[in-house]
Amino acid sequence: MNWPAPAAFPVARPRRLRQSPALRRLVRETRLHPDQLVLPLFVRPGRKVRQAVGAMPGVFQLSVDELLKEAAAAQSAGVNAVLLFGLPAKKDAAGKGAYAKTGIVQQAVRALKKELPGLLVITDVCLCEYTSHGHCGLLHDGAHGKTVANDPTLKLLARTALSHAEAGADIVAPSDMMDGRVAAIRWTLDEEGFADTPIMSYAAKFASAFYGPFREAADSAPKFGDRRSYQMDPANGDEALREVALDIEEGADLVMVKPGLACLDIVQRVKQTFRLPTAVYAVSGEHAMIKAAAAKSWIDERAVTLESLLAMRRAGADILITYAAVDVAKWLKES
Ligand code: PBG
Repeated sequence: MNWPAPAAFPVARPRRLRQSPALRRLVRETRLHPDQLVLPLFVRPGRKVRQAVGAMPGVFQLSVDELLKEAAAAQSAGVNAVLLFGLPAKKDAAGKGAYAKTGIVQQAVRALKKELPGLLVITDVCLCEYTSHGHCGLLHDGAHGKTVANDPTLKLLARTALSHAEAGADIVAPSDMMDGRVAAIRWTLDEEGFADTPIMSYAAKFASAFYGPFREAADSAPKFGDRRSYQMDPANGDEALREVALDIEEGADLVMVKPGLACLDIVQRVKQTFRLPTAVYAVSGEHAMIKAAAAKSWIDERAVTLESLLAMRRAGADILITYAAVDVAKWLKES
């Protein structure tokens, strides 16, 4: 056979740049770094409590003393930030534990800022872990049955965020999906002398089945109905952009998309449209799926975890909230 000389037949050869690890490193477009990681932690009352969460291997409900140990270990592995969720001693219809000055998250923030001042402490601002009915706000009889009352809930969310800022939280992160919550929180923080406390809003948060295992970890499953009248319909992408735009107008400094792998298109659109620091939450169900398949040796846990987070980075995420943060930080050091 008489092939033409290469010069006359210039075939594109992408494989040229894939030949060696050094070449692949040189042309790599996206990287993972421990600075991007946020570790979610669950705090509960008591001492020396370390209660495993069934559907989330490696995740525990921790008393404050144990939380300090866990956070210190995360920090020495290279993790830069934690995201706190609280399980109160008592729940009631108005979620009072969420905004109590001596509430469980407030205690945990004070302890963390005292013992580990360099670790960034982000607090989840929501009522669902604190309400007896498990919904993210106050209930009322609406036109379509019992549901969360938007505006009365705003006051309680703002009080919650303020109590977190007073305890020393570095960033507050409202996850309730009420309309106007970012404005209510911003206004309250500014009025009370916390104009410098940033808000990371769960701006595009979908009513996702991937949150199942979290509701065991946070004991926050709704006692009736679901969250579809406040969290977004997973079918909607344009609406996610409108939600993010509103939160930014209201004063959000960072925005979050949640869940992660099921929302990479949203991550990409949000980052490209708004160019704000954009976080993605690799949620409990994503973690559970990887852990379960890895436990059966059906997948390689490390490779799948890193590839998933890299995909979120490639889509545009700057900040990665993941239950695997400590493992990831360790793996990145080794590689
Ligand atoms: C609270 C909240 C939830 C999650 C984060 N904040 C649960 C929910 O909305 O039902 C889910 C996190 C996860 O699944 O890992 N509103």
